[in-house]
Amino acid sequence: MPRHLLSIADLDRDGIERILARAASFAEASGREIKKLPTLRGRRVLNLFYENSTRTRSSFEIAAKTLSADVTNFAASGSSVEKGESLKDTVQTLSAYDPAAIVIRHPHAGAAAMVARWTPAAVVNAGDGKHEHPTQALLDVYTLTRRLGALDGKRIWIVGDIEHSRVARSDILAFTKMGAHVTVCGPPTLIPRGIEALGCDVRFTLDELREADVVYALRMQRERMRDSYVPSLREYVANYQIDGRRLGPRQVLMHPGPVNRGVELSGDVVDSPQAVITAQVEAGVVVRMAVLYELLAGARANAPEPATPGPVLA
Ligand code: NCD
Repeated sequence: MPRHLLSIADLDRDGIERILARAASFAEASGREIKKLPTLRGRRVLNLFYENSTRTRSSFEIAAKTLSADVTNFAASGSSVEKGESLKDTVQTLSAYDPAAIVIRHPHAGAAAMVARWTPAAVVNAGDGKHEHPTQALLDVYTLTRRLGALDGKRIWIVGDIEHSRVARSDILAFTKMGAHVTVCGPPTLIPRGIEALGCDVRFTLDELREADVVYALRMQRERMRDSYVPSLREYVANYQIDGRRLGPRQVLMHPGPVNRGVELSGDVVDSPQAVITAQVEAGVVVRMAVLYELLAGARANAPEPATPGPVLA
């Protein structure tokens, strides 16, 4: 396990499988009435969020608390960031509290890697602009392998706004490392040039969607768009929305959330038994527990034992 989790590129297939196995063992334990494990007792985890989040932030918090860490949630809005404090100064200030891990979400690609240079803490990338979202990809692989078994040879279509999606970039890397065949599909303006270099195919229509074992829909990241990328939402819906007509009965449907119902997905498919969207959310906790465990408990195992305190008065 690397010291930080900044990108899926930091992990090989063995590393991914190790995290998934750890997550599965946590899932077994989560049925117990007392859910807490003592692993990270006395250690601090800092959630540093410069962008909105529902699932990622709450699941990191629950994951850290389930491992008995002390968690502090820092939201940029309402903090001295609004008084002009830089990311570097903020990270160095908060590092004075000696966190074992910093979980960071930030609108700029590369932010998590920069933070890793400014703090002695282990850094987990919880989404950096349109670059990567590695824990999302890990929980997606976890959810899919539980549903389908090994991903070798499985066909996964990722549909929608690929251009602005960190989920797409991390998922393409993770799914292909696990042996799946990935196709990305969307309007040409929302497919980045050269994306094939990540190891996927490209389609601009849903004509061949039926070949997919898994359909992974993405939200239009309107907060990252300066211009208009599609002629109209109505046209986008007509050409790319996954609805009951387009989704085959044996295809598994995924989405990272938040869903814009009636845009990338019709309401009926969101609520269909083929959708594993809630299972993805559930997996978020055990997979993030596994990531924190691998980064922090492994490191602690290698650290020197604290000296046994002697009697205070000799
Ligand atoms: C995604 C994100 O923030 O990148 N959400 C998430 O973490 N579950 C996708 C999105 O916002 O569309």
